Amino acid sequence: MSSAAAPSDLNPVSPENLSDPLPLYRELRERAPVYWSEPIHSWLVTRHEDVVAGFRDPRLSANRTVFFEHQVQSLGPDSVSAFMRVIRDQMFMKDGSEHIRLRRNINPGFTAQSLDTWRPAIRRTMEQLLERVMPRGRMDLVKEISYELPPLVIAELLGIPAEDRERFRAWSKPMADFSSPAPDADMRVLAHEVNRATMAFREYLMAVVEERRRAPGRDVLSQMVSAEEDGKLSTEEVVANAILLVFAGHTTTTDQLSNAVYDLLTHPEQLQALRGNPALLGQTLEECIRFSPAVPGIGRVAVEDFELRGQKIRKGSHVMFLLAAANRDPEVFSQPDRFDISRDSAQTRHLSFGFGPHQCIGSGLARRELEIALELLFQRLPGLRLDEAHTPVRHHSLAFRGFSSLHVRW
Ligand code: HEM
Repeated sequence: MSSAAAPSDLNPVSPENLSDPLPLYRELRERAPVYWSEPIHSWLVTRHEDVVAGFRDPRLSANRTVFFEHQVQSLGPDSVSAFMRVIRDQMFMKDGSEHIRLRRNINPGFTAQSLDTWRPAIRRTMEQLLERVMPRGRMDLVKEISYELPPLVIAELLGIPAEDRERFRAWSKPMADFSSPAPDADMRVLAHEVNRATMAFREYLMAVVEERRRAPGRDVLSQMVSAEEDGKLSTEEVVANAILLVFAGHTTTTDQLSNAVYDLLTHPEQLQALRGNPALLGQTLEECIRFSPAVPGIGRVAVEDFELRGQKIRKGSHVMFLLAAANRDPEVFSQPDRFDISRDSAQTRHLSFGFGPHQCIGSGLARRELEIALELLFQRLPGLRLDEAHTPVRHHSLAFRGFSSLHVRW
């Protein structure tokens, strides 16, 4: 890892810059804070101050469906029609009053009070996962824990019966793969898979919604169905946004957990400090989330021409907020490239969950999951360390950063 040198190229998706983006972030923040990147046809915004302002700027819309449409044009008009129909109803893609209406009616399941009632279920799920691997003394953390825990927890929140959870989890993967394709991915295959998964998932959820109308529970889906019955959400919106929760809450949390474990294991003095004082867990987690965000960048679309730091942003152009670059802005974080669990500012100022109206609705859930997972991992697997027989395998795009495999032992 060579984070000191200035990059020779400013292509954010070159293999070198994807693998170690810190020199690029620094260069852009210092010399070109609003930068047009030809290879990805997008503006890149890297300063903390500009990203915060951008998230609040009504000239930048969250409706990115046009970019999905553009991406799939060459694949034929019907290739992803089911998927496109669903994402148009998701709050993620809405602005203004439409966004507020959807979010307000989905939010009751995500208040601190409501989420605290799920803590025992998260803990139980994590304990079950750990019991399976404990006698083995080694595992691929991604395969056994990071990838497993989030969909099981979301399924629990939505009240999905245990026997359906395997299918449920399998539907979320093609959505993540399609939204952030690997450089060598075959888009035709991904499009086919995402469309098929969306249709199956939608049909399944329609039946569950019907069931919840008859027999409501205390789960998040029942709360959304109650808003539907009050005429505040349509049935399509309930289903589309339940799909969004699975999609948005799965690989993000998977990657964040793997990133956090990796950073702690590769900074033994920080792990030691945490072990010495478990009360530091909350702030340790915030530093992990600042330091290695699972979502390094998030996009918007300009809905009018305007100027930003002297650059002319044209209506219809794509603007990418590089959250991971903003999280290393020295104007906000002292010694930003230092992983430091005693840092105060990380707790309030990192942008890894976004900012403004679309700030992650699941951040409270993610934090509870991650806290419980880290606590139990380091408590139950004493001597947890990287398994040197296996090289960690990263995956990274501008939108998602995590590990495909991370072998550990204890
Ligand atoms: C560590 C894990 C997570 C990370 C890093 C993360 C990151 C983000 C970010 C950066 C945004 C802002 C998107 C934007 O501005 O366009 C966002 C929004 C969102 N997240 Fe998360 N997220 C995580 C976990 C979750 C979980 C567990 C859920 C739900 C179960 C979830 C559901 C959502 C939803 C529905 C939105 C859209 C909110 C809106 O449009 O108002 N996320 N997330």
